[in-house]
Amino acid sequence: MNRSSATPTNPSFHTGTGHDLDRAFPTVAAPRVARMTRIYAIANQKGGVGKTTTAVNVAACVAAAGSSTLLLDMDPQCNATVGLGLSKAITPNVYDCLAGRSTVAEAACETAVPGLWIVPSTPDLAAANMELPRVPGFESTLREALRGIDERFAYVLLDCPPSLGPLTVNALVAAERVLVPLQSEYFALEGLAGLLDTLSLIKQQFNPRLTVAGMILTMHDARTRLAQDVERDLRTHFRELLFETVIPRNVRVGESPSYGLPVVSYDPSCAGATAYASLAREVAALG
Ligand SMILES: Nc1ncnc2c1ncn2[C@@H]1O[C@H](COP(=O)(O)OP(=O)(O)O)[C@@H](O)[C@H]1O
Ligand SMILES: [Mg+2]
Repeated sequence: MNRSSATPTNPSFHTGTGHDLDRAFPTVAAPRVARMTRIYAIANQKGGVGKTTTAVNVAACVAAAGSSTLLLDMDPQCNATVGLGLSKAITPNVYDCLAGRSTVAEAACETAVPGLWIVPSTPDLAAANMELPRVPGFESTLREALRGIDERFAYVLLDCPPSLGPLTVNALVAAERVLVPLQSEYFALEGLAGLLDTLSLIKQQFNPRLTVAGMILTMHDARTRLAQDVERDLRTHFRELLFETVIPRNVRVGESPSYGLPVVSYDPSCAGATAYASLAREVAALG
């Protein structure tokens, strides 16, 4: 497949055969048939654990490798939107899509990363937390809005807000897989039981195909005894559910949003960027 045809000005071009991914990520086996769109929710109701950083950087890596990718900023804080260099005041946005005022295709904006598109957020999205539950079946609003977008993107990533409210529920009903970032600290597992309960409820009631793709240890400082203990405990408890890649605490990761870029574009050779590239290879290898 020719990368030049996967131009970001053409969101309808489906690059999901895996061929280009395979070239960029030689450890990923090339699928023999065109694959389906993979919809991932990046969720953890704790704030500041690396959800947005993980969503933005994994999305940027798979997009740069040739798999056309759409990120939806589901958080009224708009960190993914601003972190990719867009304003919080764009219309149409995610809120418009949920309210039926726009289609997802109309709301998708091109980013500076080739192949990466975003449906931006706005602070007004906070109102959806009250408005959504007034409509019976509100849990499936996003799933319905994403219908038809499938063929345009190899990956759709949903960056969730730090709560288990209606926006996260919508993301979990629309997604097929969940990525759970865990901050490498003593309280890493705080709230995880609540998230897992919500996941199993949603799986039972709305979305039987939902699975946890894996947990990611973020902001890890391998020099500290605490971080080493946390990683050992998590590997013991969660085994294959914890991704092999651990994301280090890295000052460049914290800087990059202020430049409107994912760290993998801002400083591709820093430790944070190489770790996110490695995580993206693991995610891509899930098929
Ligand atoms: N690996 C890292 N090293 C340093 N800072 C990080 C790292 N990951 C995230 N951050 C910073 O920590 C803060 C919280 O991360 P963020 O991804 O926004 O979390 P969440 O979306 O879960 O609230 C942000 O300021 C972000 O830039
Ligand atoms: Mg966030």
